[in-house]
Amino acid sequence: MKKKMAMILIASMMMSLSVGCGNGPQGGEASEENKTTETVAPATETIVSTGTKKVGIIQYVEHPSLDTIRESTIKALEEQGFVDGENITIDYQNAQADQSNLNSIASKFVGEKTDVVIAIATPSAQVMAAATSDIPIIFSAVTDPLGAKLVDSLESPSGNVTGTSDAIPVDETFELCKALTPDVKTFGFLYSAAEVNSESVINEAKKIAKDYGFDYKESTITATTELQQAAEILASKVDAIYVPIDNNIASAMPVLSSVGKSAGIPVYVGADSMVQDGGYATVGINYEDLGQKTGEMVADVLNGKEISEIPVATLDHFYKVINKTTAKAIGAPDNAEGATIVE
Ligand code: TRP
Repeated sequence: MKKKMAMILIASMMMSLSVGCGNGPQGGEASEENKTTETVAPATETIVSTGTKKVGIIQYVEHPSLDTIRESTIKALEEQGFVDGENITIDYQNAQADQSNLNSIASKFVGEKTDVVIAIATPSAQVMAAATSDIPIIFSAVTDPLGAKLVDSLESPSGNVTGTSDAIPVDETFELCKALTPDVKTFGFLYSAAEVNSESVINEAKKIAKDYGFDYKESTITATTELQQAAEILASKVDAIYVPIDNNIASAMPVLSSVGKSAGIPVYVGADSMVQDGGYATVGINYEDLGQKTGEMVADVLNGKEISEIPVATLDHFYKVINKTTAKAIGAPDNAEGATIVE
């Protein structure tokens, strides 16, 4: 009842506004016919100019992969006609891997009634989703959206959250390991205890390790300050290290890369950027493509599409990447069939 009255009020206010516009400076001289045309034009203009939508970006940490995602999401939005400073305002916030920063960014976006939020990486998507059930959230590069409890269905999410996933094939990385470094018997799984995205990949790795004849040991860290020591201890006990798509470790790859090189063992990783930053090899996805897809989804939301009509998207094209410099340092092959080589 209240709602109806409010709507009637708004409607009558808009009508009087239109009439007001029509009676502008030239209104008096215009003929009846002209008056009608003039009345319509300014009213439409008013709606367009108040239509600048606020787009919030909450990014967990700065590392090359997440930066690539953000940049290509913004580029895709532009291609879809949504340009920062023109018809949208983008507010980019980076939490620097800090949980309390994530919380304050999320409350800021809720308080400012941001129209749509892009949440890059699992930790930011989880905090943002917990902060609002109204504002549409498009996540990007969430490895396991179901495991992270962001959506109840990948095909038709029922809440205010959907997005893109960077789920990866651990089995293909194990196959690459068999081809490049066939002497590996024991893997060391290294990851952040708090990252669900890493945990679910490691669970899969543990499940299939036997099929490839691998034993494994594991080590978890709670902060990047622990990385060096954890990696050194693990490296002394295993033939190769495997790190999943782990944000904290990705932000400190040079540390891990030099541990691998000193121990003379390969460090297999979950993402191309981690190979660029000194890891040995991966089978992963293209994060520019993922950002592109994310931007298209955000544009859909800005155009009024319902979240339930936007399924979670995953990429099914994977590519091998090998770091030539790292390969030389550990005396391993610097090429494989169809691989992209970086230095
Ligand atoms: N998949 C990660 C997550 O769910 C985010 C991520 C994207 C990432 N690209 C990466 C992590 C590269 C490490 C390296 O949070």
